[in-house]
Amino acid sequence: MANVWNKPQLAARLAAVDDLLRRFPDAGHRTLAKRLHAEQPMWFPTLEHARAALRQRTGNSGNRKYAEKRGQSRAARKPGEHPPLPKSEAKPWEPYRLDARNVLTLSDLHFPYHAELAIEAALAYGDEIKPDAILINGDGFDFYAISRHDKDPTKPKMLHELECGRQFLGHLRSRFGGVPIVWKLGNHEERLDAYLQQNAPLLFDVPAFRNFWHQPAGFVEHGITIIGEQRPILLGKLPVFHGHELGRGTIAAPVNPARGAFLRTQHTVLVGHSHQTSGHASAGLWHSEVFCWSTGCLCDTSPEYARVNRWNWGFAHVTVDENGDFEVRNMRISSDGKVRAS
Ligand SMILES: [Fe+2]
Ligand SMILES: [Fe+2]
Repeated sequence: MANVWNKPQLAARLAAVDDLLRRFPDAGHRTLAKRLHAEQPMWFPTLEHARAALRQRTGNSGNRKYAEKRGQSRAARKPGEHPPLPKSEAKPWEPYRLDARNVLTLSDLHFPYHAELAIEAALAYGDEIKPDAILINGDGFDFYAISRHDKDPTKPKMLHELECGRQFLGHLRSRFGGVPIVWKLGNHEERLDAYLQQNAPLLFDVPAFRNFWHQPAGFVEHGITIIGEQRPILLGKLPVFHGHELGRGTIAAPVNPARGAFLRTQHTVLVGHSHQTSGHASAGLWHSEVFCWSTGCLCDTSPEYARVNRWNWGFAHVTVDENGDFEVRNMRISSDGKVRAS
């Protein structure tokens, strides 16, 4: 301990201690001292040199206030005490509860490639049932302009797509008054996040930048609640997904999309995304019933990229009891605009 350090040497020793504390914030003093001595024998010729420097820097000897100021203060670990587990960075994933009893559920409108006849038929049904909430269950926008697929430069640009959605929301507000409108983001809306992540990664975590499209889409003007992060919507006890959250198993299911949703979730759910009306029922061991539904779309059913498909127009009407029990009317719309229960 006879070493006397000059100023630059002291600074170098402190820097070595600080670096170690930064790299291993949860390691014990004894472990750190061993490492310090092994890595920097010139500055810490014995283990005791290293321990003394660590004790001083973390405020366990000398002035604790200075250590606190530097954010390096830490209580000495008691004998037998384990170092803490690493902190989890996982974020909670919670469903969104839509508190309504009579919900018109529309999905896959794909503005500006929507089907006017089908939307008018669904809204005319809405005129009859007078919903107390409207759920746009994903793929409200197509976002063709920022798709990763090859693009036709003559097709409508982003601003036009957004304007189309804004016009639709203005129509909904005029037709259904102030009922809550919830817009869940589907895989087509998520195209925008993917585009920004690829082209402006440094700005991606700035909310105002990421959500720039909410204003031109009319979400702000019309008080729309936006649900992202693939959160399910709960209508009473019924979980509603767009469908892409369940993976390709739903859309490419061997029998029908509703069965695909069942196989994935083993739970009663309602999904869109597949552009097909279908249903699946199953009974559990104690005869508890599980029902799954997939709803039809409200968009062009013969797009350039999938001329031949099994899509059909449709929507769902969900009523919810006081105790959360629900009834689903999965409606089809025929090519002449007639609405029929499926
Ligand atoms: Fe879709
Ligand atoms: Fe989708």
